Amino acid sequence: HLLKELIFSAHRFLFTVCFSSARQLTVQMMQNPQILAALQERLDGLNGSPSGYMESLPKVVKRRVNALKNLQVKCAHIEAKFYEEVHELERKYAALYQPLFDKRSDIVKAAYEPTDEECEWKADEEEELTDEMKEKAKLEEEKKDEEKEDPKGIPEFWLTVFKNVDLLSDMLQEHDEPILKHLQDIKVKFSDPGQPMSFTLEFQFEPNDFFTNTVLTKTYKMRSEPDENDPFSFDGPEIMSCTGCTIEWTKGKNVTLKTIKKKQKHKGRGTVRTVTKTVPNDSFFNFFTPPEVPENGELDEDSEAILAADFEIGHFIRERIVPRAVLYFTGEAIEDDDDDYDEEGEEADDEVKPPKNYHRPLKLTFWKL
Ligand SMILES: *[C@@H]1O[C@H](CO)[C@@H](O)[C@H](O)[C@H]1NC(C)=O
Ligand SMILES: *[C@@H]1O[C@H](CO)[C@@H](O)[C@H](O)[C@H]1NC(C)=O
Repeated sequence: HLLKELIFSAHRFLFTVCFSSARQLTVQMMQNPQILAALQERLDGLNGSPSGYMESLPKVVKRRVNALKNLQVKCAHIEAKFYEEVHELERKYAALYQPLFDKRSDIVKAAYEPTDEECEWKADEEEELTDEMKEKAKLEEEKKDEEKEDPKGIPEFWLTVFKNVDLLSDMLQEHDEPILKHLQDIKVKFSDPGQPMSFTLEFQFEPNDFFTNTVLTKTYKMRSEPDENDPFSFDGPEIMSCTGCTIEWTKGKNVTLKTIKKKQKHKGRGTVRTVTKTVPNDSFFNFFTPPEVPENGELDEDSEAILAADFEIGHFIRERIVPRAVLYFTGEAIEDDDDDYDEEGEEADDEVKPPKNYHRPLKLTFWKL
């Protein structure tokens, strides 16, 4: 176990060095239990690497092994069909969850005031409190409420969720926070049947001073069929690319831009003047202008690292955040990294080295049951 830990640390180090141009992202990725698990698994796999055994087999046996491999390719195609059905099932159930998510949103944004009955929740600690203590706590609570102005709904619900989740809070800049206070809901929309597989995250905002959009979208295109050139790598649907949307910033509010002053020397006269230039600024809202994946799948290192992190985030929002937002708000869903190791090890072999084509294996919801 200790040895493993050691090798593991070395890997972690190497990984960081390889990506030094995108270090922050790498650190983010390395905090991700799924990626860590994938690394671990690759290390485990090294023990059983092919050792010339195949070459030592008689020709006739090798020939039959090829037949088995062909069967395996057929299995991969059937598996792809399986995942298509899973997607259908997910769409069907998404429709069942949606009214509850809508109600959640209505409560958050104060469009609906839940009844006393709906608000009843027995917390564990409360059971142990005496009546006297309860009464005292209640009075204090009421006093606190009186001092504050009447809050509407659940203020800063989504901003708090963002701050509580490392993957998201790492993207968050101070200047993003006032904007995200206006975020009222995140919805997941699945692609229609018969359409290429994809899902869209819809970030719904109340009217605000920063931009005129009421909804910002991010769409992730998926592929659920084995790659002809590498059918055995198929491991379920993968995110292939993503597209964002244009944010209609109001004048002077574009936080993805900053202006810098630069001194410029006139070539002939030698006079110096100061010019202002706009350059990109760090912001969560850069999430809506991801690098494009070119047709040939080849990307520079920076874009590669950005997209790898982006796919991770999009997937995480869809799989974890949206279904269980309240638990990220309260902090109950923030996981212990260790818990995740065993269950999720299978995933994402591709992540050990930077994926060649941005195939990002998706974990399907029901695997986690
Ligand atoms: C650019 O980013 C810095 C640091 O994150 C921040 O202080 C500044 O307000 C940003 N600029 C604009 C114009 O939003
Ligand atoms: C906001 O800044 C981005 C660069 O980060 C730029 O591409 C975009 O055009 C700007 N939008 C507006 C409305 O100024």
